Amino acid sequence: MTSLSDATRGRILYGGDYNPEQWPEETWHEDVRLMTEAGVNSVTLGVFSWSKLEPRPDERDFGWLDRLMDLMHDHGIGVVLATPTASPPPWMGHLYPDTLPRDEDGRTEWWGGRQHFSHSSATYRRRAAAITEDLAARYGAHPALTLWHINNEYCTYDWGDEAAARFRDWLRHRYGTLDALNTAWGTAFWSQGYGDWAEVLPPRHAHYLKNPTQVLDFKRFTSDMLLECYTAERDIVRRHTPHLPVTTNFMPLWAGQDAWRWAEEEDVVSVDLYPDPRDPFGAQSGALVQDMTRSQARGPWMLMEQAAGPVNWRGVNHPKPRGLNRLWSLQAVARGADAVCYFQWRQSRQGAEKFHSGMVGHAGARGRTYQEVKQLGADLARIAPHAAGAPLRADVAVLHDWHSWWAGDQEGRPSRAVDYPQVLGAWHRALWQSRLTTDFAHPEHDLSGYRLVVVPQLYLLTDTAVDNLLAYVLGGGTLVCGFLTGVADEDDRVRPGGMDARLRELFGIRTLHEWWPLEPGETAACEGGLRGTLWSEELEPDGTADETVPYKGGELDGLPAVLRKGRAWYVSTLPEPEALRALLARVAAGAGARPVLDGLPDGVEAVRRGELLFLLNHGREPVTVDVPGTRHDLLTETAVTDRITLGRYGVAVLKP
Ligand code: GLA
Repeated sequence: MTSLSDATRGRILYGGDYNPEQWPEETWHEDVRLMTEAGVNSVTLGVFSWSKLEPRPDERDFGWLDRLMDLMHDHGIGVVLATPTASPPPWMGHLYPDTLPRDEDGRTEWWGGRQHFSHSSATYRRRAAAITEDLAARYGAHPALTLWHINNEYCTYDWGDEAAARFRDWLRHRYGTLDALNTAWGTAFWSQGYGDWAEVLPPRHAHYLKNPTQVLDFKRFTSDMLLECYTAERDIVRRHTPHLPVTTNFMPLWAGQDAWRWAEEEDVVSVDLYPDPRDPFGAQSGALVQDMTRSQARGPWMLMEQAAGPVNWRGVNHPKPRGLNRLWSLQAVARGADAVCYFQWRQSRQGAEKFHSGMVGHAGARGRTYQEVKQLGADLARIAPHAAGAPLRADVAVLHDWHSWWAGDQEGRPSRAVDYPQVLGAWHRALWQSRLTTDFAHPEHDLSGYRLVVVPQLYLLTDTAVDNLLAYVLGGGTLVCGFLTGVADEDDRVRPGGMDARLRELFGIRTLHEWWPLEPGETAACEGGLRGTLWSEELEPDGTADETVPYKGGELDGLPAVLRKGRAWYVSTLPEPEALRALLARVAAGAGARPVLDGLPDGVEAVRRGELLFLLNHGREPVTVDVPGTRHDLLTETAVTDRITLGRYGVAVLKP
């Protein structure tokens, strides 16, 4: 078993996607000079090089890559080598139209962009395997090679005929018989009963609402098909280089793949992260993804891509103000990253991403972006000996599950205003603002190591997951569940009573009479000043709760908005941010989960990684932070006694 430490060897990997095929060879020499000057020790090559490596079917052109691999090695820069299978060459679609995916309306996704491959196409898979095999055979023994990067951001769907055939196979495997499928999908509704497997299709364009379990299974199937594409290539490179780790880069909190399941198949978990520099909660949304990636990795992880400046895919694309790139990069290290990499090294002059920043922007080496990249390289080198490989400890886990998201986030629900990622983000933000270090976990994971488990919303819970939550509380854990949790079983069938009976009993709820979703902007007042948003519930308590916070006024007047029975809490609304923060801070304190530091000024994040204390000022004004005792700041190489002032976007990495 290999891991990220086989690639980092005690360093923090620093660098990014390098697309030298877009540049004349003289530029390569300028590039390595600038890389060396900036402390870059890792580049990712070949992500989109398929048409260069295989210009015509079965022809190979490796000469340019040979020279690059050597050039990198000569300058002490390791190579993360990508299989180029995310963007097949034009000849592939032209000669083999069966490799092109179809959308749900039956339209073909043509070449001319990228990711125009059908995960189900046998031709695509065969050709992807062949180029992977040849790459692995040619470079497996190259001394520059440190890590394999399979494909890029697997994210495609396919509703076409070959995908339909594979979907039927997948369903046969899951259900065995059509009867079982009909039962699971509830096809008695709207005359959907299937009498022949050939009738079963992906959920293509339909007149009105689609069968929700069919949609759910299609999402499961899509994640599994893409995973098959990944593992097929992974197995090829592993055969050649069993000593080298393999990864594929996730998109942050991406709906299209069950990343818990995927992470089990990776040696290194990596993610691409692009918070909006103008988002007032950019730092927290970054922290959420960092916490989730660390939890999937169960240890150090890799920031495979971020932007040194603006991206080009938002409505308005803002650059990063001075210092922000450094701050967010060090935040990733604080939260467990052992690699800080970018898309991309040199900003393109042509193509769809020419207005996306690079580590070297259009302004070149004199540009502010590159100058800051250079400073960051020096910072990372200073902290690497102490930070790389060091673990984080969290007392709190937030539960998240893709299957629940897929089931809960469909049409035909009580409220379109409920957006799962937003609810998840709101709960994580409340914990982040309370400086509680938080892991994420799957609802069936072992939770016994956590003092507090938080379930923002798990609409779908398997029986095993319900058992797990009950056992956790029985074993002494504190559980807080948000609204619309435990509603459906694995087939998206509503549980009797509208919420799992054992969970109702756990929280002291006799009857869930109705859900009362709120309009956007509407609030539900509760006793003690708490106000709920988005949702409320008409709950009849069974009299066993130890504590309740009732709704005040309106139709639900006097009924419980929040219930606590022993160590189990149920919150039937989304409290406004400050109320949610205060509630979770109180519950966490009761559960013995401690914030990293008390009394921090607003906007200052504190994270402990190993023996290091990271302090990050997300504000534009300087702040002074009390840190009793004497420590050494690795970034400034000075001693810090009792207090430290952090400038705009300032960071300190303190070692005892
Ligand atoms: C993704 C891709 C990159 C690039 C960036 C732009 O992360 O993997 O190839 O397109 O987005 O932000």
